[in-house]
Amino acid sequence: MQLRYTEGQAAGLDTPLLAIAVTEGTHASAEHLGALDTLLGGAIDSTMTAGDVAGKESDEVVLYGGEAGPRRVVLLGVGPSDDLDAEKIRRFAGRAVRAAERLNLESLTLSLDGLGAVDPEVAAQSVAEGAVIASWKFVELQAEDLASPTVLVDSVDLVGGESGPASAGAMAGAAIGRAVNFCRSLQDRPGNVATPSHLAEEAERMGAALGLDVTVFDEARMREEGMHALLSVSRGSEVEARFIIMEHRGGEAGEAPLILVGKGLTFDAGGISIKPSQGMEEMKYDMSGGAAVIAAMQAIVELGVRANVIGLVPSSENMPSGTATKPGDVISSLAGKTIEVINTDAEGRLILADALAWGARMKPAAMVDCATLTGSVIIALGHHAAAVMGNDDELVAELRGAGDASGERCWPLPLWAEYRKQLDSNYADLQNIGGRPAGSITAAAFLKEFVGDTPWAHLDIAGTAWGEGKLPYQRKGGTGFPTRLLVEWVRRRAG
Ligand code: BES
Ligand code: MN
Ligand code: ZN
Repeated sequence: MQLRYTEGQAAGLDTPLLAIAVTEGTHASAEHLGALDTLLGGAIDSTMTAGDVAGKESDEVVLYGGEAGPRRVVLLGVGPSDDLDAEKIRRFAGRAVRAAERLNLESLTLSLDGLGAVDPEVAAQSVAEGAVIASWKFVELQAEDLASPTVLVDSVDLVGGESGPASAGAMAGAAIGRAVNFCRSLQDRPGNVATPSHLAEEAERMGAALGLDVTVFDEARMREEGMHALLSVSRGSEVEARFIIMEHRGGEAGEAPLILVGKGLTFDAGGISIKPSQGMEEMKYDMSGGAAVIAAMQAIVELGVRANVIGLVPSSENMPSGTATKPGDVISSLAGKTIEVINTDAEGRLILADALAWGARMKPAAMVDCATLTGSVIIALGHHAAAVMGNDDELVAELRGAGDASGERCWPLPLWAEYRKQLDSNYADLQNIGGRPAGSITAAAFLKEFVGDTPWAHLDIAGTAWGEGKLPYQRKGGTGFPTRLLVEWVRRRAG
């Protein structure tokens, strides 16, 4: 997918489709529409006078061009100008790409004019993100259908706006959009393809291409280091676990790093506490947190973020077998704490425990983990926000801000000391489940035991990492969540 920014007027462009956002109350004589309306023989004016495009969010009209300029123009209503924000702009761009697909077009142009009072750099970034994310589709495992070939948009031009901020925003948005799509391809790949060693190879390939240091531990190395919680989850599987370490040195030498940790559980059958077979195929997306961290690191390097950032991905399968960890087993961990495994399906917190303990040793300025950790977060927040919990209110507030700006929202749940009691064990330092009440909170309370005094926050993304494709820029499958949120948070931290 190619994305370019070009300065100047949309009216003069030779493009198969030009998409323009129309806010409520916009008139055809508006500065950015006048020349185009003349070129179209007054078609925009007629459309608006007829009331067919009044700027409502459902409005969509395609007009056909004359001798010169765009061959088609799609006017897309985006609501009242005052309500326009980054997320509405992403959706506008997504609708424009879907319009191109319906017309079997491989390229289109999006106008950055008419986007109200939204900061021009933010507007351009949002258009680029929406267009790049919408254009992508997971097709790598299907033969091309010759009867009805899938036409995918592979070239997008942005035009207009204020050229300095617009080109900077467009380039950032394209890098972030590509990272989101990288995340989604890892998410959508089935468990027999996207194994722990596959995730490690993808991280290594990306690192080699961009000059990012990537180190991968195999199980022998994990054993030497004492990562027994991570190893205990992998015991039941025929494929080996991996621990992936990615290091971006964009800050001063010796400056405390930011650490991103992602659950890379490539297939969660539940282990001996096996899951019901209904819907089990979706448990290939239990590596979404890890995929988002690998993808976010890609964007962080491409954007040249001036901070030291480390990405950590503990990756394993969770399978039942004769060698698998059993309910009641007591295991040890990198942090030295012993854990009674009551339910082998609460495995994410085990692999994260060792990754968080590893991260804490690096004395980070802050550490954020993301994980498809509990079904219970879907009961609490549905599919519209991740839960955020941590030991540092300021960090939680930063993540909420980055979530709002990136359109990947998170909402806080309390992490009071009382919840820790639900993890008391008769036989070990703690047990790995806390019973039915507050399942997402007790999972976070478990993780908190392994971060020491590091400022830390956890995002439970079980409800947001996968979707039915309800937003115009999404499709059924992996959403890429929280790649955008993580990149936004790191960029804000870097200043
Ligand atoms: N990977 C699951 C959580 C999950 C559920 C992700 C639904 C996506 C959709 C996790 O490993 C798990 O099995 N959690 C258990 C914990 C329980 C055993 C305490 C759960 O949520 O049921
Ligand atoms: Mn599980
Ligand atoms: Zn899991």
